[in-house]
Amino acid sequence: MSRDQRSRGFVTRTYEVASPKVGRDLTLAFLADQHNVSYGTRNEPVLEELGRVAPDAVMVGGDLVVAARADNRSDAWKRPMVELMRDVAARWPVYYVNGNHEELLRALPAFARSRRFDGTYDGLMRDLEACGVRHLSNRGELLGEGSGVRVWGLELPVCYYGRHRVREVPEGLLREMLGPADPGAFNLLLTHNPLWFASYAAWGADLTLAGHVHGGVVRLGSRGLINPEHQILPPYTGGRYELAGSGGTSVMVVTCGMGTHSVAVRVNNPAELSVVRLRPVAGADAGGRAGGGVDVGGGAIGEGAGGRAQAPQHGDDANPRAQAFWGDER
Ligand SMILES: [Fe+2]
Repeated sequence: MSRDQRSRGFVTRTYEVASPKVGRDLTLAFLADQHNVSYGTRNEPVLEELGRVAPDAVMVGGDLVVAARADNRSDAWKRPMVELMRDVAARWPVYYVNGNHEELLRALPAFARSRRFDGTYDGLMRDLEACGVRHLSNRGELLGEGSGVRVWGLELPVCYYGRHRVREVPEGLLREMLGPADPGAFNLLLTHNPLWFASYAAWGADLTLAGHVHGGVVRLGSRGLINPEHQILPPYTGGRYELAGSGGTSVMVVTCGMGTHSVAVRVNNPAELSVVRLRPVAGADAGGRAGGGVDVGGGAIGEGAGGRAQAPQHGDDANPRAQAFWGDER
């Protein structure tokens, strides 16, 4: 089940996931795809909403910035995001992974003609570190005492983000990059691109948090029209999905994201702050699945790709404030 709540130009969607592997109730806020877009003067509405949600931790799924706008002669291209991360990390633990824009920024100096990209990636990472953000660059760590949750950050290099021709990410690549999933924990995989959910599930992710797709730009019912790989009606664009995984049922929450950049259009697709509530449950209550699976509850609807999609109950038609906001971005 998911719940929506409007809030000042974006909606808050709440997803509930129960598992016997989870040690205690945990609330996670999940932000992705800001692309240097601010709400208010200094993201006050985002901070207010986070305060209302009162998360145990904040997950940041990448694409804080727009790589093409990076410029080592000024901080303007990243300043709002560094300020946001500083303000959020001052109040909550923040876990972060790169998106394709940060990965592109890392790679750009090697082939860009302009020297203005030189040092911009390292500078951004230093800024995030100084904010107290925990950068999970292909590693995992326990979320907190008694949580039972190990959070992993998977950062795929920019070569795995293509248009039209998608490079496969097999499960073996995750094992190479991360090592094995923790058999004694609820494995939460924070990554940017939802496209390889089957590999994440096969690796052992109990829950994957991803973004990247911006809801598919145009929402057609529970589906999004297009993804950055230029697939039409791609499999994972926004909402909750489940697949059978090596650790039981594997759930993925895909946020529609907080910002946008070059295609500054959202139709029936407001920006989203996601909240995931994890709760412990006895094994028998988790649907009796072998391997201590995840109780995903709620009614399911089909969304292709072999996955079972549970559409958020949006009920959030065009939000005038959001429309004004996207108009400004254009
Ligand atoms: Fe992205």
